[in-house]
Amino acid sequence: MRQHRVVLLPGDGIGPEITAVARTLLEAVASRHDFTISFEEQPIGGAAIDATGEPLPESTLTACRGADAVLLAAIGSPRFDSLPRQQRPESGLLALRSGMELFANLRPVKIVPALIDASTLRPEVIEGVDLMVVRELTGGIYFGQPKGRVSADGEERGFNTMTYSSGEVDRIAKVAFELAVQRRGQLCSVDKANVLDVSQLWRDRVEAMASSYPAVEVSHMYVDNAAMQLVRAPRQFDVVLTGNLFGDILSDEAAMLTGSIGMLPSASLGSEGPGLFEPVHGSAPDIAGQDKANPMAMVLSAAMMLRTGLGEESAASALEQAVDGVLAGGYRTGDLMAEGCTMLGCRAMGEQLLNHLST
Ligand code: IPM
Ligand code: MG
Repeated sequence: MRQHRVVLLPGDGIGPEITAVARTLLEAVASRHDFTISFEEQPIGGAAIDATGEPLPESTLTACRGADAVLLAAIGSPRFDSLPRQQRPESGLLALRSGMELFANLRPVKIVPALIDASTLRPEVIEGVDLMVVRELTGGIYFGQPKGRVSADGEERGFNTMTYSSGEVDRIAKVAFELAVQRRGQLCSVDKANVLDVSQLWRDRVEAMASSYPAVEVSHMYVDNAAMQLVRAPRQFDVVLTGNLFGDILSDEAAMLTGSIGMLPSASLGSEGPGLFEPVHGSAPDIAGQDKANPMAMVLSAAMMLRTGLGEESAASALEQAVDGVLAGGYRTGDLMAEGCTMLGCRAMGEQLLNHLST
């Protein structure tokens, strides 16, 4: 019997509620597909600050590094907004990505036909959209030095550094090229090379790699244009390769093509070691603890974990089919609610997903 060890990081806000749903479903698919998963829960973010005083305790990082895969729900709470940056929940997530060397963040955006009317964009614009944002995750302006705040001449100045080395660009570009080969063979690299030196280096390295992938059609786009094209004609994109900050912004924008950010999973991978799987959405403190959250992005992240992190393809498909089945059956959480549908809370949605798992 195959055995997998998964670290669960419920985190903050709606995190514990959606984690409970994902755990139940993972246990159910494991027994149907002849493997076992042992779960270990660890604190991160605000929950870890409350328990230990730090957003990423050493014990959490050690457990994550030693697992076969890590499933994270969400971090963040306004309660900690006034703490120094290093002690806030977000710093725990950044330290986890960096500590596990997860430089590649994959954010697939695929239109679910049953939800086409949930988008604020017109159906004919978003129909058939199927793209993958490949975001660099451990470099760029998020981690660049020097950074900080200084006072001089009666003024305060804040600064960050956007920096990439050729090696950092090459390793993320390679991930994107390999994905493009498996998908529709189109790679659009997004930068700001008309203004930024760091982007010109990025563009040069991507261009240099293109000759090794003759099957991939490479294009380059400035980030402002990419933001526009994503809502104007999103079907033109297959793989979108970009840096940490631009990827953060564009992936939220791309998420809204699907109607709700509550549907989008993501995977963060390094060159070796366990991957980290998490929904793109945040901790939604406004609805936390009210049984209103949409657990589907978390369940789809669990599916990505099964497929990419644990090699359990058929169990991954089973979870994805359960999500499709529930939506086709007209069940919706509040974020997706439409006329004629049945509105469910987080727990009830979890039960419906369980009912829709094929035996
Ligand atoms: C994301 C989030 C994080 C980021 C925050 C919570 C630090 O927005 O995963 O996109 O900026 O990377
Ligand atoms: Mg973000």
